[in-house]
Amino acid sequence: MKTKISPSLLSADFTKLGEQMALLEPLADSWHFDVMDGHFVPNLTIGIPVLKSIRKATKLPIVAHLMIEHPEDFVEAFAKAGADVIEFHLETTPEPGKLIQKIHSLGKKAGIALNPDTSLDVASSFLDKADLVLLMAVNPGFAGQGFIDITEKIKELRTTYKGDIEVDGGINSETAKLVCSAGANILVSGSYIFNSDNPVQTLKDLKA
Ligand code: DX5
Ligand code: ZN
Repeated sequence: MKTKISPSLLSADFTKLGEQMALLEPLADSWHFDVMDGHFVPNLTIGIPVLKSIRKATKLPIVAHLMIEHPEDFVEAFAKAGADVIEFHLETTPEPGKLIQKIHSLGKKAGIALNPDTSLDVASSFLDKADLVLLMAVNPGFAGQGFIDITEKIKELRTTYKGDIEVDGGINSETAKLVCSAGANILVSGSYIFNSDNPVQTLKDLKA
């Protein structure tokens, strides 16, 4: 499986968001768009108006990572604003199966996200319905946190799951190797790319 990289825009410089995206666009595979509500996670980030703006600035898929309670109330708005993939945490919604159906009915792909401490058992009955699994390697809420070693969890999931396994949090050139050899094929990376002196070169190195 070819490894894909999804830069997390949360660590971009928002005064130059369009410029930074244009520089990375030829190398990135998708954009990771982190949405936080101050309830499910102890932080607030960006939402619909920013998503609408960046939709006009890129041809790449935009992946909305919803770290919010009641994602079912918002998926339609995120779909309309231009998300191609909508990821939600299994911990946040009473009927994940219904939400996956709803995202599909909006013509979008659905991803199920699990916190580092959430067991794979929680996901087992949704694996055949969702389009991808997002495994968090940090507790969601902030960019720039240290990597929590979830390689055993990735390996376990990969033994039976043939779809996309995406890892989010603490990805740099070292941790990227670990999670890829464990079976992940999509890497989200924010601060490592955007806080580096040369984001283009850092993304190239990460891909290599
Ligand atoms: C964390 C977010 C991540 C974050 C990744 O709650 O979901 O996507 O932006 O940032 P880094 O790569 O800096 O850990
Ligand atoms: Zn994220």
